[in-house]
Amino acid sequence: PDDSVVFSMIQPTGRFHLGNYLGAVRVWKDLCDLKGDNIKLLFGVADLHAITVPKPDGSKFRQLRNEAIASILAVGVDPSKAIVFHQSSVPQHTELHWILSTLTPMGYLNRMTQWKSKANVNDNSSDEAMQAVKLGLFSYPVLQAADILLYNATHVPVGDDQAQHLELTRHIAGQFNKTYKCKHFVPPATLLAPTKRILALNNPDKKMSKSDPNQNSVIYLNDTPKIISAKIKQALTDSISHKFYFDPVNRPGVSNLINILSGILRLSISEVEDEISKFDSHSSFKDYVSEILIEELKTPRHKFEKLMRDQAYLQEVSEKSARSAATIAEPNIQKIKNIMGF
Ligand code: ADP
Ligand code: NA
Repeated sequence: PDDSVVFSMIQPTGRFHLGNYLGAVRVWKDLCDLKGDNIKLLFGVADLHAITVPKPDGSKFRQLRNEAIASILAVGVDPSKAIVFHQSSVPQHTELHWILSTLTPMGYLNRMTQWKSKANVNDNSSDEAMQAVKLGLFSYPVLQAADILLYNATHVPVGDDQAQHLELTRHIAGQFNKTYKCKHFVPPATLLAPTKRILALNNPDKKMSKSDPNQNSVIYLNDTPKIISAKIKQALTDSISHKFYFDPVNRPGVSNLINILSGILRLSISEVEDEISKFDSHSSFKDYVSEILIEELKTPRHKFEKLMRDQAYLQEVSEKSARSAATIAEPNIQKIKNIMGF
């Protein structure tokens, strides 16, 4: 719709993978392709969020922040249509985080699942284990709310792992309006990616993730064809049948591969099932999956390599985008502070 502001971010915590692609960055590219004149698109590298997990040293982190911009552009997000920037380059994110933290119930944050899984704790963990959890990790979804509300985003495209955080953003927006008797914040809508969550190739109980120590479980966007084939060959499947159909409960590995095909080919699960009904061995099915992946990731991989050789261009894009983002963020934070009496 007109006057929509679409906002989303991704963390520079490692190489981008197939889950990031189908759950986020390819959706951003699609939005660029569709974009009308009255729609603003902002896609950020969440470098402030990234320091809530074990931190690499400064030079490694600088490289990851840089690669993240290159990865977004490599997938086809067009910097003439979208603002592609580093979160840390717009200081109002942290300023709004503080303001919103004073409106966020601790109990609500306590119910969030992500910090618990990232810190490896649960409701029965010892005091000692809880001592190791840092405030920034607990407060992660509040910073996310600040990111979104700073631009008065109307739509936030995310994978389903983020739906809970968007719910909190709407709650905080409502709390602000109620507390200050205004209608400043409009609760943003969640735009769920059309592809269901992509799972780890060797452990389809958990999602494919940048931080997975088992690199064989993750297809990175810059994996070579040889590496892609090798990873798909060793992906966990089953011997239930040499016919391949979608059954996430009994055949999670096979179903994950079918979901991947459905995402890439933009086909429904049953259309994929028809397409693969001709295969009667695991190797022919897996060869087909590899072939589709290799073809899909060829352009992003080459573009990524090319962009990484042009550091001046990457810097130009992030600096110019940071200035564009600031033209929205600065007046908005002024309005917010004005409402509050600052
Ligand atoms: P990661 O978990 O790999 O560190 P982020 O937390 O930076 O990724 O998430 C960036 C975006 O990618 C979010 O929109 C998230 O929903 C999406 N995403 C991450 N992992 C997956 C996955 N396995 N399947 C689908 N979408 C994913
Ligand atoms: Na994550």
